[in-house]
Amino acid sequence: MKRKPPPFLWGAATSSHQIEGGNEHNDWWAWEAEGHVEGGVRSGDATDHWNRFREDLQLAASLGLNSYRFSIEWSRLEPEEGLWNTVALDRYGEILSECERLGLLPMLTLHHFTSPRWFAEKGGFTQPGAAEKFAAYVSSVIEAFGLRIPLWCTINEPMVLVAGSYLGTFMPPGRWAPHLASQASHQLLRAHVLAYDLLHSQSRERKGPWKDWPLQVGIAHNMLDFLPDRRWHWAEKVLSRIFDRFYNRAWLDAVTGRKQHFGVVGMIPYADQVQEARGRKTADFIGINYYTKAYVQWRPLAPAHKASAQLPVGVSFAGRKDKVFSDLEWAIHPKGLTRMLAFAGGYGLPIYVTENGIADREDRLRPGFLRSHLKAVARALADGIDVRGYYYWSLLDNFEWGKGFGPRFGLYHVDYETLARKPTKSAEVYRNIIEAHRAQGDGSPRVEYFRS
Ligand code: GAL
Repeated sequence: MKRKPPPFLWGAATSSHQIEGGNEHNDWWAWEAEGHVEGGVRSGDATDHWNRFREDLQLAASLGLNSYRFSIEWSRLEPEEGLWNTVALDRYGEILSECERLGLLPMLTLHHFTSPRWFAEKGGFTQPGAAEKFAAYVSSVIEAFGLRIPLWCTINEPMVLVAGSYLGTFMPPGRWAPHLASQASHQLLRAHVLAYDLLHSQSRERKGPWKDWPLQVGIAHNMLDFLPDRRWHWAEKVLSRIFDRFYNRAWLDAVTGRKQHFGVVGMIPYADQVQEARGRKTADFIGINYYTKAYVQWRPLAPAHKASAQLPVGVSFAGRKDKVFSDLEWAIHPKGLTRMLAFAGGYGLPIYVTENGIADREDRLRPGFLRSHLKAVARALADGIDVRGYYYWSLLDNFEWGKGFGPRFGLYHVDYETLARKPTKSAEVYRNIIEAHRAQGDGSPRVEYFRS
């Protein structure tokens, strides 16, 4: 008998610190208190999802979603080293039960940018033994409810985390220290591998509505379509290739056992490679977080630039010719998603678009953004690329890291005075797209639909 293919996963994504509120034991809370967020804003109660999760999951289900990607907060579960907060563990258990009741297959992220303060104070992922500390946390999560979860992202955007923390200034501790970037990459890869092995070695029977789904573990990897700012400029052409190589490929090579290149800014091979990941595949899927393109600029004489103060290069998310941008001035560039899917397809693993979205306060560009990017997914599928799901970022407006509450990515608008949620027009658009697809076959996006 032919087995029915698993349904395409239509989802939306969030992360703990950006929506829950009250995450006072993590490094971001401290970073915010030091005034690093624009306008001195702090995450505070965020969207109060910690208390309103039932309402939010109901909103997700009412869009017709069949999956939801969210993260759990390590600092909540282990506020002090070795001290486990069972009340918080139970709350995540309730969130999971609610997902099960509503038919939202959970994709769980174990680390989404924030770390417990006790861990960060000892050097975060640069400390020796960081991976083992992370693994202890993962074990307790598995113990509490791991058997009910089919899809896992160990680390969200390791490349962004490392670059933001040790090559730029936009994440704690905000230092320029390439040797620390290298160490952090090394420990993050070890952390990923340990978590991968722990999840795959669960010996007991899986539970819940998705117990028969294959267990899939991977990372959510940020990818950018790098282009030379000036097409004729040889240095910019070479640089954009180098950026593509270390930013887009390094992590995918590492988790598929191809090669590890984690030295200075990820380019020079690091002598002390991660043995545990050598020559073996430690990902069952590739998660792509895709937003925009990046123009690489050679500017040796430019005044020091915040994010790359020490390098004669700059990166801009919109070019001279781009006319339409998001509120963050990121160009709308679905072609880049096509390219990233084609590239990732070459690794021969299933792919999930684990994030894709736009900051658009007025919700004017989002409907078109959704359609054009889903069309790219449909095309990739038609070309034989194994895309299994799409998660819009984000279910609701939230705390956008260093930019505070200004950028609005949500399908649901949040009024930060009353915390009331209101659907945007795009919520309706997304719901209609999903409805039109889910009735047929495995429910995946079809090119014909997006032609009209
Ligand atoms: C991603 C990140 C999310 C979200 C999004 C929009 O890089 O994983 O947490 O902030 O960008 O900027």
